[in-house]
Amino acid sequence: MNPLTLSSTDLAARAGNLSPVLGRYFERSWSHGEGHRLYDTDGRAYLDFANGIAVTALGHHHPRVTAAIHAQVDRLIGPTNAMGFAEPVVRLAELLAAALPDPIDTVMFLNSGSEAIDGALKLARRVTGRPGIVAFRGSFHGRTYGATSITSSSLNYRAGYEPFLPSVHLVPYPAAYRLHGGDEEAATAASLAALRDLTATTIPATSVAAVVVEPIQGEGGYIPAPLPFLRDLREFCDVHGILLVADEVQSGYGRTGRMWAFEHAGIVPDVVVMAKAIANGLPLSAIASRRELQERWGKGAHGSTYGGNPVACAAGVAVLETIRDEGLVANAAERGGELTTGLRALMAEDDRIGDVRGPGLMVGVEFVRDRATREPAVEAAEAAMQRAADLGLLVLSCGPSHEVVRWIPPLNVTAAEIAEGLELFGEALRTT
Ligand SMILES: Cc1ncc(COP(=O)(O)O)c(C=O)c1O
Repeated sequence: MNPLTLSSTDLAARAGNLSPVLGRYFERSWSHGEGHRLYDTDGRAYLDFANGIAVTALGHHHPRVTAAIHAQVDRLIGPTNAMGFAEPVVRLAELLAAALPDPIDTVMFLNSGSEAIDGALKLARRVTGRPGIVAFRGSFHGRTYGATSITSSSLNYRAGYEPFLPSVHLVPYPAAYRLHGGDEEAATAASLAALRDLTATTIPATSVAAVVVEPIQGEGGYIPAPLPFLRDLREFCDVHGILLVADEVQSGYGRTGRMWAFEHAGIVPDVVVMAKAIANGLPLSAIASRRELQERWGKGAHGSTYGGNPVACAAGVAVLETIRDEGLVANAAERGGELTTGLRALMAEDDRIGDVRGPGLMVGVEFVRDRATREPAVEAAEAAMQRAADLGLLVLSCGPSHEVVRWIPPLNVTAAEIAEGLELFGEALRTT
């Protein structure tokens, strides 16, 4: 490991040229990562169950990914799309097509989740010839203008940015715990009723190009949509010729114990948007759909200078091969079961925890002031997260007022590490 030039104190003191607009969970300085540990600049190791928000899903400095990156850097960094074909790009597209359900077989590579969401909105409008976009309250789809227009997980992501993209309509997400006393049927019925009401009173369904949904809301608070809701949404889109766009940026790539979160509902969306874990840390995203849709989108209708960079795609190939060869989707399901059981045991002893939810390794722990009123306990969640970090465990908050502590362990996490994380979190709860 090369020694760092700046000490942790120097780093923090010299960060004054960095924009204050970026939110940070911690005021810590990081040196390097190895496996499932992130090291601060004082050499202290932290069990990393945050993974840069679901990005380094195979852990840090993964040998196979690192070797693939090194090899590709030595061979060819650019050119990208506009010049023709490069092997890692073609191979990643093949592997992704194999990892997606039929008839999804075509991918367009971009650089970030937001950019891919914007691309999916453009695809939907161009292909259907319709203007309307429907999305769900509390969702997070990114920071570019299109993505911001359909995001409402926090007012801070919208305030002062109007006017947004026109013809966007937000309807309630079926957030059972928060809005319906935990009743998933009521949550499903209410969201579908709002959707039907929208298309009966505000915009005809024949003018809606796409419904964009996170099968599990991420930034919004780790809230899984009830599976019947996703099936009904699929049917609604089928009936009205609307494209169903699944935002799998946070929930995809094996995280939930299935390769894609929509698979839990047994549905196939028209468009799948992915990013984050796709290249274990290098910038890369993709819009996937059946070929016919991207053919109708039209040559040159969208593009990107850097999208599908060969180095990022080489990392992406190594990520998908590792997930496949090491059975990591099954590992996420198994370790996720242990995690949820352990968190529920902690919940039984601590009434600040109102809910533990989410499949696989995408688990949210919601803090409440009172289990009956479900009023968010923002300070308790923040205190638990910061105390956990002091003790050597990295977990992050999410939710409209950051009342949920989310667990995003790497897909190759071990049972011993899950036990260690639970032990540290239990200690954090006992001491805050
Ligand atoms: C579900 C979802 N969609 C889109 C995005 C935006 O991705 P990016 O930050 O790569 O632009 C995020 C980022 O957190 C996300 O969680």
